[in-house]
Amino acid sequence: MKNIVVLVSGGGTNLQALIDAQNSGAIKNGKITCVISSNPEAYALERAAQNGIPTAVIRRRDFTEFSEYDKALTELLKSKNADLVVLAGFLTILGKEVISAFENRIINIHPALIPSFCGEGYYGLKVHEAALKKGVKLSGATAHFVNEECDGGPIILQKAVKVKNGDTPEVLQKRIMEQAEWKILPKAVSLFCEDKISVINNIAIISE
Ligand code: GAR
Repeated sequence: MKNIVVLVSGGGTNLQALIDAQNSGAIKNGKITCVISSNPEAYALERAAQNGIPTAVIRRRDFTEFSEYDKALTELLKSKNADLVVLAGFLTILGKEVISAFENRIINIHPALIPSFCGEGYYGLKVHEAALKKGVKLSGATAHFVNEECDGGPIILQKAVKVKNGDTPEVLQKRIMEQAEWKILPKAVSLFCEDKISVINNIAIISE
């Protein structure tokens, strides 16, 4: 059974999708053992507490140097015996130390079809604003491993979602969460826990 540690910053609807998947048995060979937030006010912490999942908070601003924060997060994850780290709306950039300590063991959910609308500055509603500004007819979500390139790691799963006339960023965000994020993130996590993902030359290959 793999230990899954989920990193959050906000509302935590993706965390909720993971908890629901765990409760329905859809996450095979893995258990959410800790939720870590970058923000002590995050509602995601409430969701964890309601489900009896231990929590911790680590704030970037409590460290002067980024390297100190990077080291502290790495140590925290190691102290929780994390086999898999999931970024579920975690909005603080990860440093080199944590990325190399957990190479191909950190999964992020991004609310667009990478390589569109991704990279630095593309998070939350900003992603959907950019998609609507471009006038794309399909957007979606991507679950991928995290490497040193922002949103550039091996792609595990993607799901496309229609953009409709009159969509606002909020409406599109909700549709993408419901139809894509909340489905592919738990699936990617389960595939990892079942040892069904291998990474060869920066490409994720799923065996099913
Ligand atoms: C989600 O839409 C997630 O894909 C996005 O933040 C939202 C968090 O919502 N993440 C990014 O934009 C990362 N670049 P949640 O807290 O309700 O899961």
